[in-house]
Order: sequence, then C-alpha cells, then structure tokens
Amino acid sequence: MLTGPNVILVLKVAVASVTVLLLASFVALWRGNYRLHGRINLVFFALTAATLAGFEGLIRVLRPELFDYIDQNDEIRQALNIHLCFAVPSALLMPVMLYTGLTRRRALHLRLAYLFGALWTGTFLTGVFFLPHTP
Ligand code: HEM
Repeated sequence: MLTGPNVILVLKVAVASVTVLLLASFVALWRGNYRLHGRINLVFFALTAATLAGFEGLIRVLRPELFDYIDQNDEIRQALNIHLCFAVPSALLMPVMLYTGLTRRRALHLRLAYLFGALWTGTFLTGVFFLPHTP
C-alpha cells in the first residue's frame, strides 16, 4: 500500500487540489478582493507547507527506501531532477510571497508573483506529467 508510486499519486492529487486554491485566489484578486486573496493564500501556504513537511519526514526519516527505485532508473531520476528545478525554488519563494503580501510590499509582491507563477506552473506540469505514479 505505502509504495513510492502511491506516494507520488497522493502528491499529484495534493498539488492539483492546492492549485485550485491558488486559482481561486487569482479570481479574488481579479475581483479586487485583496483580503480574500490573502486569506485563501494563507490556507494555500499552510496546506502546501504541511504536506511538504509530512512528505519530507516520510521519505527522509521514516521510509527512506521508498524512492530507491527512482535512483535505479536514469530516466525517472532525470524527470525528478527537472521537476525539482521548479519545485525547490517555488517552495522557497512561498514564505516570501506570504511575507511581501502581508506587509503590503506590493511592488515586490507583484514582481515576485510572475516568478512564482512560472515556477508553480513548472512544478505542476513536470510533477503531474513527468513523474510516474504506476509501478
Ligand atoms: C502569483 C500571483 C500573485 C499575485 C498577482 C498577487 C497579487 C497581490 C496583490 C495585488 C495584493 C494586494 C497588495 C496590497 O494590498 O498592497 C496581494 C496581497 C496578498 N497576497 Fe498576493 N499575489 C500573488 C500570489 C500570492 C501568493 C502565492 C501568496 C501566498 C503564498 C500571496 C499572499 C498574499 C497575502 C497574504 C496578501 C495580503 C492580503 C491582505 O491585504 O489581507 N499572494 N497579492
């Protein structure tokens, strides 16, 4: 039951679900409701950070062998490396987005928003379409 491909599948569903929240926060922004945008993204941040922490705990501490099969397959390893080029910077940028949003540094928040949007799109596409969730 707890296999590497199953963990990937759960993560794909999680990423797709929080992406719905991110899109909802854009709709709020487009309608001029900055407060709602901030509230939704607070939830987006909390859920994504909690999932990431649980995932890292699982594959680094509890069950480090789960992803051994990835290191044994060059093609999947390469796909994961490409995915991480997007996923790691977007995870690092998330608290910065939260901080610049909450402290109303609008110019910086907006400039970083383009970068975050591109990185999140890359994370989503490479995660959902490059990484195999079947054994
Ligand atoms: C990626 C595209 C994004 C755009 C275009 C965007 C745009 C904006 C704008 C225009 C504001 C209003 C700033 C002001 O009042 O001066 C705002 C506020 C805010 N944003 Fe974003 N944002 C984006 C992503 C994010 C993300 C990813 C997060 C969190 C992880 C976030 C968190 C916030 C918060 C907490 C506020 C404060 C809301 C409030 O005033 O109550 N934003 N954003």
